[in-house]
Amino acid sequence: MSEWTQLWLNYERVRNDIKSVNITFSGFSEDNRVVGSMIDELRRGMYGLLGAEVSFGENGAGSSDTLKIEIKKNVAVKAEGYRISCKNSTVSVEAGDENGALYGTYHLLRLVNFGKLSDGCEVNSSPDNPLRMMNHWDNMDGSIERGYSGRSFFYVNNEIVVDDRTRDYARFMASIGINGVVINNVNVKDAASYLITDRYFGRLKELSDVFGDYGIKMYLSLNFASPIELGGMDNCDPLNEEVIKWWDDKCKEVFEALPNLGGFLVKADSEGRPGPFTYGRTQADGANMLADAVKPYGKLIIWRCFVYNCTQDWRDTKTDRARAGYDYFKDLDGKYKDNVILQIKNGPMDFQIREPVSPLLGGLTKTNQMLEVQIAQEYTGQQIDLCYLIPLFREVLDFKTYCQKEKDTVADVISGRAFGNKNCGIAAVINTGNDKNWTGNDMAAANLYGFGRLAYDMSLSAEEIAREWVSQTFRIDKNDEDLIVDMLLRSREIYEKYTCPLGIGWMVTPNTHYGPSVDGYEYSRWGTYHRADHLGLGVDRSSNGTGYAQQYYPENAEKFNDPDKCPQELLLFFHHISYDHRLKDGRTLIQYIYDTHFDGEAEAEKIAENWNILEGKIPEESFLRVKNRFERQIYNAKEWRDQVNSYFYRKSGIKDEKGRKIYE
Ligand code: GCU
Repeated sequence: MSEWTQLWLNYERVRNDIKSVNITFSGFSEDNRVVGSMIDELRRGMYGLLGAEVSFGENGAGSSDTLKIEIKKNVAVKAEGYRISCKNSTVSVEAGDENGALYGTYHLLRLVNFGKLSDGCEVNSSPDNPLRMMNHWDNMDGSIERGYSGRSFFYVNNEIVVDDRTRDYARFMASIGINGVVINNVNVKDAASYLITDRYFGRLKELSDVFGDYGIKMYLSLNFASPIELGGMDNCDPLNEEVIKWWDDKCKEVFEALPNLGGFLVKADSEGRPGPFTYGRTQADGANMLADAVKPYGKLIIWRCFVYNCTQDWRDTKTDRARAGYDYFKDLDGKYKDNVILQIKNGPMDFQIREPVSPLLGGLTKTNQMLEVQIAQEYTGQQIDLCYLIPLFREVLDFKTYCQKEKDTVADVISGRAFGNKNCGIAAVINTGNDKNWTGNDMAAANLYGFGRLAYDMSLSAEEIAREWVSQTFRIDKNDEDLIVDMLLRSREIYEKYTCPLGIGWMVTPNTHYGPSVDGYEYSRWGTYHRADHLGLGVDRSSNGTGYAQQYYPENAEKFNDPDKCPQELLLFFHHISYDHRLKDGRTLIQYIYDTHFDGEAEAEKIAENWNILEGKIPEESFLRVKNRFERQIYNAKEWRDQVNSYFYRKSGIKDEKGRKIYE
């Protein structure tokens, strides 16, 4: 037993009737590194799930208790896709490339696990998104920005660690179809600036080789000011010839040493990070300069759109942080090189429990785009509170942008279906650390698993994914499985109910972002973020207010602009609403706030109670870890309920119609 858990790759015995598994390859070489990983996984998985020994190569007819698996190259299968079929107890896995074969193998193991491998079964799958990435916000001192699961397993004291855990990590990622990993924080500081120097090339090569064994490309976050910090120059102006030359030379050095590096991720001009704005240049100037430097090596620049001025004075009603991404990037649509991808957070603000979808997604039509979501639960309970995020991601993917008549959802845009791009996809800020169970809260692994599965197959529902995860993680009967699935599916709504209402966002403790602080927005020197007064609350982002609603295509702009048409869950994001305003169900806004906060807390208690039903049915350590998290969640939910209710009672002076206890 290793010191860490195997997450959903537990491979516990599911049946005993198969004694041996015989595997043959055609068109794939067993010497290929990815095929080598596939062979290891098949041995491990088939032994665990079936108790069967695995042999390779033709070995005669086999007996009735032998499962035959043929892994065949078929160039007609789409890149990284696979076909699985089962006839006369012989399984065939066909793929056009090694990654596809590896993903097909993991799918086959899932079928065995779910008891779904039987004659006649057919699976045909290929990834919806070309790029399916994890972004680590790990720092080289071992800390993790917004990490809630211990310290980094990539770095200890500014050294890169490559060990068995790294390999297990790569296995987990490949098993859910991840094909790119950014290994360092977007805020590149201190030792991380030196990742692009020979100080670290040796270890980086080792790490990228482990990833390469699992079909994963490694990426690095880049410091835009490297010419200053590493090159001793006095500027990093992207149009300066010497700066350009410095980057050209640097990229040659880096990609010669690290051929499996996929490229760079860049956070520029945001929250104190350097960028092209300092020199009066645009975001496109910055991104294109780097794109030219990496182009000879066929690499990518992933440029983040999380660019905003955190010190802006918003007392002027037109100034609005939510507008920033679109304002900075929209006019440059079409001006980016083909190996630039703009990485756009799902909402215009910052990973809140509820936000509208960013208008940049689909707002850009001539630029490669990638969606960025966060499974590290920064604003969504920090892996203490249960919050299954796949329903939120589903909503984002299904959002109709109206960027064209058909194929206009966010899923269409990021997959390349809308505009035919190849360099596009989806990335998540990951929720892992060196905790024994990887994700702090065992239940938070559902987000890790779910993100990968969804990134590969955007047709999966939140429930299907939850079921898959539960049944691979815990060996429990159907009723108990239903219980956990139900907890997961309700968790986001519960969290939303006891925290910030109707899309308003924040209200969290500044900087740490856990626990309530109604007025507590870190950049609040110009007043409260939520604009509550004695009459109402919410930010007017309509055409009378900041005008943010106008950044959408007309169909959405019209809807968001009008408080009567605006989806209720986003009402306070778009409008300043009075406390006595009647919502669709007849309740006043203030009553809605009281009700949801009482209900949310009560529902959190209920799911915590349900967890106790699982005592003795799942491993004790897991059971206790989650139980402890639920206790903390309830404490947190009570704090939120009481602080939010008291705050708005004091502001509005309106009592709860149901006479429940609100602290005065
Ligand atoms: C949030 C988060 C930061 C992070 C930033 C980003 O603001 O709190 O820790 O650096 O997002 O996405 O760059």
